[in-house]
Amino acid sequence: MGKVSVLISENEIAAKVAELGAKISKDYDGRELVVIGILKGSFVFLSDLVRQVTVPHVIDFMRLSSYGDSTEHSGVVQILLDISKPIEGRHVLVVEDIVDTGLTMKYLLENLRTRRPSSVKVCSLLQKPARTKVEVPIDYLGFTIPDKFVVGYGLDWEEKYRNLPFVGYMEN
Ligand code: IMP
Ligand code: MG
Repeated sequence: MGKVSVLISENEIAAKVAELGAKISKDYDGRELVVIGILKGSFVFLSDLVRQVTVPHVIDFMRLSSYGDSTEHSGVVQILLDISKPIEGRHVLVVEDIVDTGLTMKYLLENLRTRRPSSVKVCSLLQKPARTKVEVPIDYLGFTIPDKFVVGYGLDWEEKYRNLPFVGYMEN
């Protein structure tokens, strides 16, 4: 992999995160939230997003992995780390970096619903509609992107590039 080109700039991301944070704060006004960040990819987005969310919330994490290499999804999802507290009766907001095929999110939503939360919504920074295999509702979406493999702002290629302040794609 060679040079990384900017797809979504740092400023564009910051503006979108502020917009999403304001919307979430308005929608959940008067309620308490459990924000569940999906590791590792969401850690940068989540840390910026929660600082724009004004309603009281607790933060928890899950780590999921799909069998297969980094670009092809096998559809089998494994929970590598689970949340630390029950979510029964709580309002849950799942924060993800990208919904690609949708298989990870579909599995996750089915799993979380068995735990009887009051509500579950999804916030994803990115979505790649061209790659959708299963439709999952994204209540709060940052950007739809073309069918390119992207890195930065938490997203990796072989664990690298997560620290880039923008979302970029690899030029070969
Ligand atoms: P899905 O189950 O196919 O929707 O895949 C979701 C996961 O695959 C995301 O949480 C990412 O970790 C990873 N992923 C999908 N597309 C990309 C990409 O373009 N760059 C980096 N990671 C990606
Ligand atoms: Mg991920």
